[in-house]
Amino acid sequence: MGRIGLEGCEGKSSSCPREEFCRWSLDVAGWAVLLALSARQAPVGSSPPWLSTGIRLPDTDAHGGKPNQRIGWRWKSWKMAGLEISNVKKTYGAVDVLHGVSIDIEDGEFVILVGPSGCGKSTLLRMIAGLDDISGGEVRIGRRVVNDVPPADRDIAMVFQNYALYPHMTVHQNMSYSLKLQKVSKSEISARVNNTASILGLEKYLERFPRQLSGGQRQRVAMGRAIVRNPQVFLFDEPLSNLDAKLRVAMRAEIKELHQRLKTTTVYVTHDQVEAMTMADKIVVMHDGMVEQIGAPLDLYDHPNNLFVASFIGSPSMNFIRGKVHGDTFVGASGLRMPLSKHAVRALKGRKAVYGIRPEHFRLVTRETTGCVALEIVVVEPMGAETQVVVRAPGTKPGSEDGANKDLVCVFRERVAARPGETIYVAPEVDKVHLFDAESGIRVDF
Ligand SMILES: Nc1ncnc2c1ncn2[C@@H]1O[C@H](COP(=O)(O)OP(=O)(O)OP(=O)(O)O)[C@@H](O)[C@H]1O
Ligand SMILES: [Mg+2]
Repeated sequence: MGRIGLEGCEGKSSSCPREEFCRWSLDVAGWAVLLALSARQAPVGSSPPWLSTGIRLPDTDAHGGKPNQRIGWRWKSWKMAGLEISNVKKTYGAVDVLHGVSIDIEDGEFVILVGPSGCGKSTLLRMIAGLDDISGGEVRIGRRVVNDVPPADRDIAMVFQNYALYPHMTVHQNMSYSLKLQKVSKSEISARVNNTASILGLEKYLERFPRQLSGGQRQRVAMGRAIVRNPQVFLFDEPLSNLDAKLRVAMRAEIKELHQRLKTTTVYVTHDQVEAMTMADKIVVMHDGMVEQIGAPLDLYDHPNNLFVASFIGSPSMNFIRGKVHGDTFVGASGLRMPLSKHAVRALKGRKAVYGIRPEHFRLVTRETTGCVALEIVVVEPMGAETQVVVRAPGTKPGSEDGANKDLVCVFRERVAARPGETIYVAPEVDKVHLFDAESGIRVDF
């Protein structure tokens, strides 16, 4: 980088005493030209095309300064803001909570951590923020190891599930408090708060106290307090969990839109499947202090690496049937016969396996045909846009050995007139079937 135009000189003047000086000057000049060009020409909020390192230009004027006007903001936004979590461990006394978690998060990515309660999601966020010590491994923010950097110097803003606004301060004061502590000038504070308030639709409420706001407005103030700081990384720990369903949907869209505008690296924890699937660039599935799989939402949905991920991602969950191949069908422990593709039969070679199929991958058929299965209706749940039907293999009891799910769940686009106790015929889409090794739970590819 920076050796612009040197080639012509280098060949002829290998013995030139000024070569080092020439090289150095051209290096410096090269950098200067490239920096100047990028400042003038690169589109706002995007990475200069000549850099693949994730360095980005400042965003919109969301933080109180127009791009190219406030040098301080410009410089700040040039910092690398990727996040590297390498083999991170956490022990509380004798209890191991995280057993070596590694996640690479690129600059500007929106990463969502999911996993059962107690698997270590909040612990990991707190360690990134510096609120908990790191027992082993490394956390890097923009290539800098921050294990021993105090929270205030990590340039991170965290929004907790149970955020607490200062009740005696107005919205404006709540949002500006951290900037005051950082001794940011009054005009800068005012510009940043006003811009953030306009992003979040809080302009009308700046002089109100938290008790005069609705739950959703308070939630937005909590986010506003994080946004005004223009951090390198946002950490959100279930920020929407105490909102009602409608507000959650609205806030979900707002957060997504906000991220599209600010493009700040974000790590977000949720238990909500829809939030995870719709908001994330990348989902990290955690289980018992370890990472089970990392990938784009639809990759995880379509290609779960193992039974745990398959059962965790998707709602209603994937159906599982334990059994074995006989001829060209998969036979569950209680005799339920499910169709398989030729490739699947070959891949299983008669070994014990778990047959997985998502609820939406059953087709409702009107009569018994090849490749369809007769099932007894247990419950019909009309949802309006679709119908969820719980079914059972005829002659089996709930909790039979057929699968981890016992009864099967089907989701149909059409309405279902049949009633509990009646038989319906469904055709599993064989090319959408997942197979897992019965012992290890690992996906069997075919
Ligand atoms: N200070 C502590 N001392 C001892 N154990 C702790 C401490 N904090 C957390 N733990 C344990 O660490 C494990 C992980 O907790 P953490 O809060 O990270 O889970 P989580 O994945 O965020 O769960 P949830 O989804 O319920 O919020 C839990 O088993 C918890 O009991
Ligand atoms: Mg938690």
